[in-house]
Amino acid sequence: MQPTLTIAIRAARAAGRILMRYLDRVDQLHIQAKSQNDFVTEVDRAAEDAIIHELRAKYPDHAILAEESGAHGKSDFQWVIDPLDGTTNYLHGFPQFSISIALRHRGRLECGLVYDPLREEMFTAERGGGAQMNDRRIRVANRLGLEGALIGTGFPFRDQRQLDTYLAMFRTMILNTAGLRRPGSAALDLAYVACGRTDGFWELGLAEWDMAAGALLINEAGGTVTDLAGGDRYFQTGNIIGGNLKLHRALREALQPHLNSSLSA
Ligand code: IPD
Ligand code: CA
Ligand code: CA
Repeated sequence: MQPTLTIAIRAARAAGRILMRYLDRVDQLHIQAKSQNDFVTEVDRAAEDAIIHELRAKYPDHAILAEESGAHGKSDFQWVIDPLDGTTNYLHGFPQFSISIALRHRGRLECGLVYDPLREEMFTAERGGGAQMNDRRIRVANRLGLEGALIGTGFPFRDQRQLDTYLAMFRTMILNTAGLRRPGSAALDLAYVACGRTDGFWELGLAEWDMAAGALLINEAGGTVTDLAGGDRYFQTGNIIGGNLKLHRALREALQPHLNSSLSA
């Protein structure tokens, strides 16, 4: 295992202990709204500080892009961090949230992890080295099309400008698949595609820290991740589709008719 991934795992476990410590006191947290329905608490910040502290101790020169504190430093190496993915769930004590950490070198993903501290599931991937869950190799599901498929997604909750597009997409998916799930942590949703718990996933309007580790996990688990046009601009557009090659194509073709000019691919 690359030393960078070992350090990232240590950082994620430190953040996980913080999330678990506050979990039974969520009603006492100070909640601030960054924008409508977009919340941050001292737990998000404490978890992020713990991750950055661990990474900086070993890699003081690496740059960081973290959800709560933004971009720091200039380096070919950049850590991309979501210290608590699924804050809304967390604040309700709804047991689905995660920590996401990835490392990019000159923009290319080198390693990443998504950690679920409740179930103690650590999903890890290294470029060219496959994907694991708690050190066991994982692979995407091998379903060939939408029929019978379980598909993950996210519902829009901050920005409602694409609500009608989403509703049309949901209708298509409800009519053509075995079911849709909106678990509430996009990073973990991507990890679930990587280990075959869901057959595919799509969501619009995500941030880089939601997707970075999960995208590498799916690629290293034998799957495909693209933007809505089938290209690799998901970090730029925030729109992502993932699954095995065939399922991914079926998902993209089903979503295609609902794309409109106000939605960048
Ligand atoms: C959110 C979660 C959610 C997704 C949102 C994200 P946060 O992250 O991943 O599943 O639907 O788009 O912003 O705000 O809890 O870190
Ligand atoms: Ca997030
Ligand atoms: Ca977050």
